[in-house]
Amino acid sequence: MTGPSSFDAIREMEDRFQVPTYAHLPLAVVRGEGCRVFDSEGNPWLDFYGGHAVALTGHSHPRVVAAVREQAGRLLFYSNIVYNDARARAAKALVEFGPGGAGKVFLCNSGAEANEAALKTARTATGRPGVVAMSDGFHGRTLGALSATGLGKYRDYGGPLVPGSAFVPFGDLAAAEAAVGPDTAAVLLEPVPSLGGVRVASPEYYRGLRRLCDERGALLLFDEVQTGLGRTGRAWAGDHWGVRPDMHTMAKGVASGVPCGAVLFSERIAAGVKEGDHGSTFGGGPLACAALEATLAVIREEGLVARAAASGAAIREGALALPGVREVRGLGLLLAISCEAPAKAVLARLRERRVLASSVSSDPSAVRLLPPLTAGPAEVEEFLEALAAARPDQP
Ligand SMILES: Cc1ncc(COP(=O)(O)O)c(C=O)c1O
Repeated sequence: MTGPSSFDAIREMEDRFQVPTYAHLPLAVVRGEGCRVFDSEGNPWLDFYGGHAVALTGHSHPRVVAAVREQAGRLLFYSNIVYNDARARAAKALVEFGPGGAGKVFLCNSGAEANEAALKTARTATGRPGVVAMSDGFHGRTLGALSATGLGKYRDYGGPLVPGSAFVPFGDLAAAEAAVGPDTAAVLLEPVPSLGGVRVASPEYYRGLRRLCDERGALLLFDEVQTGLGRTGRAWAGDHWGVRPDMHTMAKGVASGVPCGAVLFSERIAAGVKEGDHGSTFGGGPLACAALEATLAVIREEGLVARAAASGAAIREGALALPGVREVRGLGLLLAISCEAPAKAVLARLRERRVLASSVSSDPSAVRLLPPLTAGPAEVEEFLEALAAARPDQP
């Protein structure tokens, strides 16, 4: 394959042929390995943005790559009109990874599509139209998922939305109690709202939402697109508080970067899902399923859930010791470091040291971290050194 190889040539070609929906960093990434990516000039970067939380097992984990290669050579794709060995194994592995190892999955391609399926199921399962979601939540860009997204920046696309959503502030149980009524099909939330500020509510809040849903006949939906599969230092965010939702949605790193999303239904909800309720040409495709099965095996066998907890704790402790760091929020390896300096300045200074991290749209002081769960003591130390040099105390 030949094509553009310098940064300028790559940028020029992308900008010429793609609609300008994304703000890009001045960087072309062409290769990845573990916690590192390499730019078009061959320079290594420490990736604590994780390709937008997708590189759960690190970039191009050899085991995932081997599974994808093997499956690609055998069968790239066949639809759900037939049974398939890779799909059977992936579905079993995901259910077994789920809380309690019970329930069933619907496989799809993205987080938005998973949330669409969960919202539809909530409505059909309860016969109710309404959704109570969080004013600082984000659930995807398709119309249904967007309509349940509270963050105004994303909702205001210039056209009408799907009716039926009410919004309450995350963490406010009294507001949820006032909003959930006889028309409410579901309460939908990111257990740790990521774009909404990486805040963690009290255990009583999550337990209170579970009780509220049970009392009023609504379903509890956890959007675990960012928090699922070990990122928070537990397999699922609800494990921190002993709360099990009726549906988990997931995507991002579930297949280590091969597009894949899923809804994990509790046994009770799965029992009501019928033929024709959901469908997707590419959902459950063999290639994504091979990557999904390998991803779950890597997370389990390399102890990545415990590693996320340990590395997250080390980052928190190290960052809090630095001048200019006001607060560290989040769980495991989903963290927001609140700085005296604007996050934009700190992120730019991190990039000068070839370190990638992210921001939080609702908090201009916060540097958001979503590194691979493979990040260990060496990567944590390297990141903390770069953060200290990026001067969180200097505007
Ligand atoms: C919490 C959450 N839900 C849903 C989505 C949408 O996922 P996707 O972009 O795969 O549709 C995202 C994407 O960033 C997300 O962070």
